Amino acid sequence: MDKKYYITTPIYYINDIPHIGHAYTTIAADIMARYKRLGGYRVFFLTGTDEHGQKVEKAAALSGIHPREHADSMVDRFTGLWEVLNISNTGFIRTTEERHRKVVQHIFQKVREKGDIYLGEYEDWYCVPCEGYYTELQLKDGLCPDCLRKPEKLKEESYFFRMSKYTRPLLDLLETHRDFIMPEIRYNEVASFVKGGLRDLSVSRTSFSWGINVPNHDQHIVYVWFDALTNYLTGIGFLEDEEHFNAFWPCDAHLIGKDILRFHAVYWPSFLMSYGLEPPKHVFAHGWWTIEGQKMSKSLGNVVDPHDVVKVYGVDEFRFFLFREVPFGLDGDFSQHAIVHRINGDLANDFGNLTSRSVTMIGKFLKGRIETPEKKGGMDDHVEDTVMKLIAEYQREMDVFGFHKALHSVFEIISVLNRYIDSEAPWKLAKDEDPRVKTVMYNLWNSIRIVAVLFYPFMPQKSQLIWKALGIGKPMEGMDLEEEMRFYTPSDIAAIDKIAPIFPRIEQQV
Ligand code: ME8
Ligand code: MG
Repeated sequence: MDKKYYITTPIYYINDIPHIGHAYTTIAADIMARYKRLGGYRVFFLTGTDEHGQKVEKAAALSGIHPREHADSMVDRFTGLWEVLNISNTGFIRTTEERHRKVVQHIFQKVREKGDIYLGEYEDWYCVPCEGYYTELQLKDGLCPDCLRKPEKLKEESYFFRMSKYTRPLLDLLETHRDFIMPEIRYNEVASFVKGGLRDLSVSRTSFSWGINVPNHDQHIVYVWFDALTNYLTGIGFLEDEEHFNAFWPCDAHLIGKDILRFHAVYWPSFLMSYGLEPPKHVFAHGWWTIEGQKMSKSLGNVVDPHDVVKVYGVDEFRFFLFREVPFGLDGDFSQHAIVHRINGDLANDFGNLTSRSVTMIGKFLKGRIETPEKKGGMDDHVEDTVMKLIAEYQREMDVFGFHKALHSVFEIISVLNRYIDSEAPWKLAKDEDPRVKTVMYNLWNSIRIVAVLFYPFMPQKSQLIWKALGIGKPMEGMDLEEEMRFYTPSDIAAIDKIAPIFPRIEQQV
């Protein structure tokens, strides 16, 4: 049986310009997708755009164009950024696609036939910018509890989903699947929310028209979240390609920000259970980025455009920074100071110097050839054992989205190697014509090659450059993790001599 892995990002609202927050989730999914591919998985990695709803309708009306035209003009911003950031998604979905309309209407219809969707009347507060509904109690001094803007009062005929019926099934799901919601702090949040009991959820609107019609009741538009969540089915061929769909469902991981946890952890599994599909295996909700200590907002004008960041610091440096700086799951702060510090410290000094020193020594002392060790001593055995132990730690962490700890293990390898060079002083061995110089170079070459593999999900382009500097010509894409995770004497590499700095220092004062 071949191994499969299905990972998703949220589908982003097209009315916003993609910023560092959107980039963060998408890069995280890319890291996991690349990592799983190394492990021999057939990966489906889905991202896309959320294009229906009142906000889009209003924005289009302001520019005097049809909402579809508006959506068409916005979507390239996302696909363009994903190209720049080297995102390896296999699917892209827009909720305005015809295939998606069919799926949403089908699910809605089936759930209605089952009696889990019924017609009723709805009275609530609605916040347009947040696309969120709030009860009187949830408002903060009459304002939207999320953005503190004035919500609109709504009273309209509406379809309701019998969410109340799913309180018990959800509690059972949570009890039997402790890792359904990750990390644990989010699990606890969801569990206590569900324990409080769930009220039925309005799943249609009559107050605007830019969306998917309720089957056989055209005045009603399917609620944007019912529409949006269903993308995860459409994106892998639901109703279109049964074999493909069945191969990838249930989804292995929905990656999201903590802002949309409830929709994914409560609504979504309920809709699925009602329809008769398995819930996803994991929902991972990560933390929130602030900018130089402040909340990112259009009004503050501090929204970070990833294009600007990568122009100054580089794509892989940016990808690396996001996951080296902050434990995945916690909140983080983006600052120029912090990214410069990481690039100069971790990449230029610790890793970059290690690589260029090693390559230079291999060129100088061994004429660029790696040979089988003839003699061991000093720390020689310790290096290989430690690398193997840290690889295992890295894998354990990567498997549970512990990107930060995984990177920590890689940096432990790097510091072991830097100490190894200092303690064994290969230049002395070379001067004394001690054959152990071959052993030390063999260990360095193999360890750095492996470090490049471990870095690959985070920094695919830089890792490839490192392999090249080590004389390895083959593409990293498609390599097999287990194959690479051992020390060997290479037989088919180019001669190794010098390298241009792979991680130049940033000299800018911040
Ligand atoms: O919510 N820090 O779309 P959206 C970290 N269309 N992550 C951030 C962030 C920040 N400051 N800002 C945004 C929607 N994000 C719906 C989703 S899914 C079926 C429908 C990321 O454009 C984070 O992943 O508002 C968050 O969940 C997502 O962008 C929200 O994107
Ligand atoms: Mg949002």
